[in-house]
Amino acid sequence: MGDSDPLLDLADIRVRLSGLQILDGVSITVPRGSVTGLIGPNGAGKTTVFNVISGFVRPDSGVVRYQGRELGRIKAHRLTRMGIARTLQGVGLFASLTALENVMQGASARMRSGPVSQALAMPWTDVQTERARVLALAAMTDLGIVDDAGRYPSELPYPVQKKVALARALVSDPELLLLDEPAGGIGAGDMAELERLIRTWTPARTVLLVEHHMELVMEVCDLIWVLDAGRVIASGTPAEVRGDPAVLAAYLGQDGAA
Ligand SMILES: Nc1ncnc2c1ncn2[C@@H]1O[C@H](COP(=O)(O)OP(=O)(O)OP(=O)(O)O)[C@@H](O)[C@H]1O
Ligand SMILES: [Mg+2]
Repeated sequence: MGDSDPLLDLADIRVRLSGLQILDGVSITVPRGSVTGLIGPNGAGKTTVFNVISGFVRPDSGVVRYQGRELGRIKAHRLTRMGIARTLQGVGLFASLTALENVMQGASARMRSGPVSQALAMPWTDVQTERARVLALAAMTDLGIVDDAGRYPSELPYPVQKKVALARALVSDPELLLLDEPAGGIGAGDMAELERLIRTWTPARTVLLVEHHMELVMEVCDLIWVLDAGRVIASGTPAEVRGDPAVLAAYLGQDGAA
């Protein structure tokens, strides 16, 4: 996972929204096969970085490169096809779909093959639906939630909802997994399991992890980038970042403001 060959890199990304400079020249690299952390106080711009990578937000300037190629503004289904999947902060499940149906949505990039059927948003064939169901059930089995396949999100405990969202991302067999606070709202036991899971995904997959739980970040990450107020203020190994005065100051500032 040499730095000379990053799977993803962002160069000097600037984003202005509603007159506010949200990202102010952010450059980060994500080595292939790594677990890379993106941390920082509330409002630092972490989710916005994910939105830029996934094409939800168009940067005013700067470049995003994936596997050495520039990512323009791309549609969600193309992103999945390129091997990038994302979980949303919170859970972001469809309330009217069962857990299984939610996970099946993530399989769409592996189902709709031709550009014509994509452009026409053609419905799945029976064969495609069956294939999506098989893939989704396999992903849910891996995460230990297959018994909840027929339940609706509102019927499931929050940590299980988070796993459904994870399964929806994993079912596309992504090379790069963007996780936005996967440990948010879950307990210590689930957090330990998440840590173990993340380790099983790499180095076959690369993980970019946004998380506020420092114990998880410090345990699982190979490399960490620290954002504050739209700028990178530190980067390095967990040990390097943990002792960085600028990082401590940024988090203390947050506590003071809260
Ligand atoms: N569409 C928008 N218009 C204006 N401001 C926005 C918009 N989206 C985000 N922001 C602001 O940009 C800043 C960064 O938001 P972002 O969600 O990226 O932070 P974050 O680091 O993910 O925070 P958290 O840890 O709380 O999730 C915040 O101040 C937020 O209020
Ligand atoms: Mg966020």
